[in-house]
Amino acid sequence: MNSNQSHIVLGIETSCDETGLALYDTRKGILAEVLSSQIEVHAAYGGVVPEIASRDHASKISPLFGQVLSDANICFGDISLIAYTRGPGLAGALMVGAAFAQGLAWHSNKPLLGINHLEAHLLSPMMSITDLSFPYVGMLISGGHTQIFHVEGLGNYKLLGETKDDAIGEAFDKTAKLLGLGYPGGPAVSKMAKEFSPEVHPITYLPKPMLHSPDLDMSFSGIKTAVKNSIKKIGKPLTQDQKISIAKSFEDACTEVVVEKIRKSCVQTGLTKFVITGGVSANSNIRKKARLLAEKNKWQDFFPDNHLCTDNGSMIAHAAALHLVDGKINKCSVAPQPLVLPRWPLTNLNHD
Ligand code: KG4
Ligand code: ZN
Repeated sequence: MNSNQSHIVLGIETSCDETGLALYDTRKGILAEVLSSQIEVHAAYGGVVPEIASRDHASKISPLFGQVLSDANICFGDISLIAYTRGPGLAGALMVGAAFAQGLAWHSNKPLLGINHLEAHLLSPMMSITDLSFPYVGMLISGGHTQIFHVEGLGNYKLLGETKDDAIGEAFDKTAKLLGLGYPGGPAVSKMAKEFSPEVHPITYLPKPMLHSPDLDMSFSGIKTAVKNSIKKIGKPLTQDQKISIAKSFEDACTEVVVEKIRKSCVQTGLTKFVITGGVSANSNIRKKARLLAEKNKWQDFFPDNHLCTDNGSMIAHAAALHLVDGKINKCSVAPQPLVLPRWPLTNLNHD
């Protein structure tokens, strides 16, 4: 395949609770994107139920494929490359996207490329920010991962630090549950924290684990446990004002840790550009404080467009398109073995 020509890439994301498909043109960018969120399906259980997630992906993926082709006004024959999330993620959910992608590839003899979900998140700001170039510090904050990378170039990611326990999004989700805010918790906690007023609401003391550790690792389960203990100490149903105090204190504690680790990463690597990506990067408090850090140090900060923070098919198509343009397409096989890698570290990218 000639990587200098314009090509259309199909991206399929099914690693967790969003079925996302997109068509990405290597010259024009996103042509169409469709997404089916399973939030309502899992809300009753307070979190993602893997088997239900797989079944929902299976029932949605085919109609979504028809819809994305029709939205982009192209036909299947126009697609040059089929990309899907190979891992990490829920094994059953990944299998649905992988099997669908493989079926399309076998049927049409088109090349198939399994994309690392974390890589797709880390590269996602490039979809809308054309002046973002390598190298940069890339922080991924999502429901399943909290990691900082030295993004040296395409396919070249050095892990600088990561959470030692809960992912930050997981801590947001669990805190939301403790506050009776439902699932997914991140946006709900953030919305509640916005009601905070220092004249009315006292700040709840919460620890900021590993804030001052010299390394770039993090920890979020202690903050969440401290929320649990604070609620236990109150001993009766929380008032709305108490919930607001806790939500704001929790969000601030998490934000301070994230921003401090970004600062240390830039200082330690000497890089002056950072990217924050993944579902939690939609958080406006984190964005605001990270921007202040960048302004203070004359660094550059980058975030994905809001709708591209959480899981989506566009980031998968985009990452595949970058590899295609980079010439990696030669390494694509029609049936990579194994088809999915539920625990695929970003530091071991192998497209064979
Ligand atoms: O990247 P993502 O869609 O899925 C994973 O790969 O994990 O991230 C989902 C996570 C959830 O934990 C959700 O609560 C969190 O992102 N999230 C937020 C916000 N929006 C989504 N957390 C804090 N503030 C937000 N505004
Ligand atoms: Zn994700």
